[in-house]
Amino acid sequence: MMTTWWCRISRSVLITLWLGLLMAGAPPAALGGNVLAVYPHFGFSHFKVVMPILNELARRGHNLTVISYVKHPQAEQWPNYEQLLISQPGEDQSSTTINLVPLTEHTPTRSLGTLFREYYSLHSEGQKTCERLYASGHVETVFKRHQTQPYDLLLTEYFNSDCQLALAKLMNLPIIGLSTCALMPYYYDRIDLPDTPSFIQSEFVGFAGALSWDERLVNFIQAKVLKLLYRYHSNRADNALVSRHLGIEVDVDEVARTQTAFIFGNQHYSLMGSRPQSLQFVEVGGVHLTSQAAQELPANIAQFIDQSEVPIIFFSWGSMVRISSIDEDKLAAIVEALERQPLRVIWKWEAEEKPKLDADKFLFVKWAPQLALLCELLQMRPFC
Ligand SMILES: *[C@@H]1O[C@H](CO)[C@@H](O)[C@H](O)[C@H]1NC(C)=O
Repeated sequence: MMTTWWCRISRSVLITLWLGLLMAGAPPAALGGNVLAVYPHFGFSHFKVVMPILNELARRGHNLTVISYVKHPQAEQWPNYEQLLISQPGEDQSSTTINLVPLTEHTPTRSLGTLFREYYSLHSEGQKTCERLYASGHVETVFKRHQTQPYDLLLTEYFNSDCQLALAKLMNLPIIGLSTCALMPYYYDRIDLPDTPSFIQSEFVGFAGALSWDERLVNFIQAKVLKLLYRYHSNRADNALVSRHLGIEVDVDEVARTQTAFIFGNQHYSLMGSRPQSLQFVEVGGVHLTSQAAQELPANIAQFIDQSEVPIIFFSWGSMVRISSIDEDKLAAIVEALERQPLRVIWKWEAEEKPKLDADKFLFVKWAPQLALLCELLQMRPFC
């Protein structure tokens, strides 16, 4: 009897308090946090996914210390954004990951040999990144800062190495990981993400359709072997590197398992299919599509669109692939098909020398801002 009464009273007190707060209108004053962000990978395309998140944190008044290789072009506009660069200040970084891959280097097979070679090159790149991070002197800077103005959180990239997680261990910080591509299979266990290689393909594999029996087998083997390689090869190298630079013994894999709060992944079920997920995984694919990006259409492209009375198609193989390295006969076949259509064509073509075609119908551009272009062509509200 007593308990029932008490429950009723306490419940009504709570409801009154809650309503009172609601009607008072103002939420309790939001408190800014001190965020340590560590993004040592050199790729501009990776940092493009990071920047909108950092911008929003800065806009909301959090204090940010950002150790990064890539320079944030607008960092100076925020007084609460401190940029600690690993690269040289004057380095041109905007094109480091654009137009890199000629079609001749395309690897059509996803054989296990290819997958493990890719793993190994990512691993080597990761170790170089770690060396640069610890040689930069910024790690010492943030340790010192932490003594007087403690950090609350480590934001970092989950991609090809974990040496930076020693900071989370020493400062005892929760970690929010960001995967700037689809999440690598060796990170699933960190957040208990169910792994079902019988029909869910990992980032590494990428077969075109539903898996055949052989493809399933490849998907299964790579899922298991990559995890072991990452744990006992990459993470071991990370631990050794931390021990060399900081003189402490840390197991970065254990730090990741115990301190990762959640992981943002640059992927989306509309592209990758749905999959079983843990609550610690948040798909943020499209986070880099900002309203500013929707407005950055170069004048020559805008003019070509304005003057067009027939529909336009945009032909591009993405930022990295150089379609200008295509074989002559394949190019001729594509051109022949396009010439027959009542269309005008905007074509991403990287080389100085362009195919000799009707300039009225074909516009070749070295690069095109895809979102701005689609917004102009399709008026895709509410994205634009
Ligand atoms: C953010 O930095 C400013 C300037 O150093 C400081 O006054 C403020 O207390 C910091 N905010 C937090 C949450 O520590």
